Amino acid sequence: MYDFIVDLKQFSTDFNSRLPQFFKFPTGLEKRVSEAMFYSLSNGGKRLRPFLVCRTAQLFNVDEQASFYVAASLEMLHTYSLIHDDLPAMDNDDFRRGHPTCHKQYDEATAILAGDGLLTYAFEVLCQNKNISDSVKVKLCSLLAQRAGAFDGMIAGQMLDLTTDLSPELSSADTVKHIEEMKTGCLIAYACQAGAILGNAQTNEYDIISRYARNIGIAFQITDDILDVIGDSAKMGKTLGKDKQQSKMTFVSLYGLDTARQKAEQLIKNAKEEIAHFGDKSLPLQKLADFILSRDH
Ligand code: IPE
Ligand code: IPE
Ligand code: MG
Ligand code: MG
Ligand code: MG
Repeated sequence: MYDFIVDLKQFSTDFNSRLPQFFKFPTGLEKRVSEAMFYSLSNGGKRLRPFLVCRTAQLFNVDEQASFYVAASLEMLHTYSLIHDDLPAMDNDDFRRGHPTCHKQYDEATAILAGDGLLTYAFEVLCQNKNISDSVKVKLCSLLAQRAGAFDGMIAGQMLDLTTDLSPELSSADTVKHIEEMKTGCLIAYACQAGAILGNAQTNEYDIISRYARNIGIAFQITDDILDVIGDSAKMGKTLGKDKQQSKMTFVSLYGLDTARQKAEQLIKNAKEEIAHFGDKSLPLQKLADFILSRDH
């Protein structure tokens, strides 16, 4: 019988053991930045986005090395987003993944550069794998830049997240949904869509995967917001209670815990209905959707 927790654990152990292959540490003083990059990247994390890339690609029997490179590239970009999210000028957090944040362990300027370094290196890694055709690499690079970007991607969401706490009058269901979808949903969407692109999915399959991803992406941020209120900071590996303290606009601030949870449940139900199209092969993605609701970290 398929056990999602065991699968994710094995996946992340394997993923973590393969990460050092991407790093070379210069001997000069500049090595500080690559050390900071590796510090944040290797220091824990659920590895959900890489898992999504690989399990979506698995629906199409994609070469495992190829999906691993795409997964590693995305985790680098995600880690950059966390390093910058934690900076004093943004959420000002001291803990991440159970350890001091990058700017606490090193210093602010190094953390900014480490984020920049992971962002740019993500694209280099994406282009390195010899088993991915050039045309697929171009599609992936373009989509990753868009999903992480400032116009309708993660950076746009982060900008909104920072602006709306200054302007509570903007609070509305649509605004909150838009923020959650942009700041978090976009990279989760990319994870699934990248798996589909690697697998040369048909348009209807790509659309199904995109709808699955959209639903779990918003649900993932709703549970992050819920756990910010009721979670255990030791399990979460970060300081909680921050959203209220910083007047963040979230599903929880708008609707309260119970309604936020119901909204997440509905989104997960929708996601599972979509991905059921792939039959038994979709089991890991079905269970991942359940995990988003039940997670405590
Ligand atoms: C945290 O993401 C930031 C959000 C987008 C909510 P994760 O909860 O996936 O963090 P890690 O990668 O497991 O540390
Ligand atoms: C983070 O959202 C989203 C990104 C890093 C892009 P949060 O600010 O809620 O994430 P946490 O709670 O710090 O992990
Ligand atoms: Mg934030
Ligand atoms: Mg934050
Ligand atoms: Mg949060």
